Amino acid sequence: MEIGFTLNGRHVEVSCKPSTLLSDLIREQLSLTGTHVGCDTSQCGACVVHLNGDSVKSCTVLAVAADDGEVRTVEGLCAVDGTLHPMQQAFHENHGLQCGFCTPGMLMSAIDLVKHIPDPTEAEIREWLEGNICRCTGYQNIVKSIIAGAAAMRTAS
Ligand code: FES
Ligand code: FES
Repeated sequence: MEIGFTLNGRHVEVSCKPSTLLSDLIREQLSLTGTHVGCDTSQCGACVVHLNGDSVKSCTVLAVAADDGEVRTVEGLCAVDGTLHPMQQAFHENHGLQCGFCTPGMLMSAIDLVKHIPDPTEAEIREWLEGNICRCTGYQNIVKSIIAGAAAMRTAS
């Protein structure tokens, strides 16, 4: 099948099978390996991207679902001049990562959380991140980062 969509602000057209997963299309055909695949059970959340503005686990979505739509991956977060997204900067400043494997999914989920709840409480953040697993168990600093990132996003908007 031929599909076309906007990926991080750029139009792309690709061929894929009807069964191709969005995560595989992004990583293997479009070479954006910032989106990670950490499980085959839809549990870890390392693969979260934004599809038409909402966070989705890209390993649970068929690539054809992106046809005519808009996909944003972690590579699309920073500005063209390389300035980090406020949430990325907050993770950097608050040591919100250890090995970094879960980080792309955490960032994409966190940004979607702030879209829904601009000033989330710690409890709301922990509940929202139920679908994101950090194998390094760095949750304390991840939550701290998201609180700081949400504040920075509010200031920036
Ligand atoms: S790779 Fe998608 S949830 Fe783990
Ligand atoms: S920082 Fe290592 S898995 Fe989360």
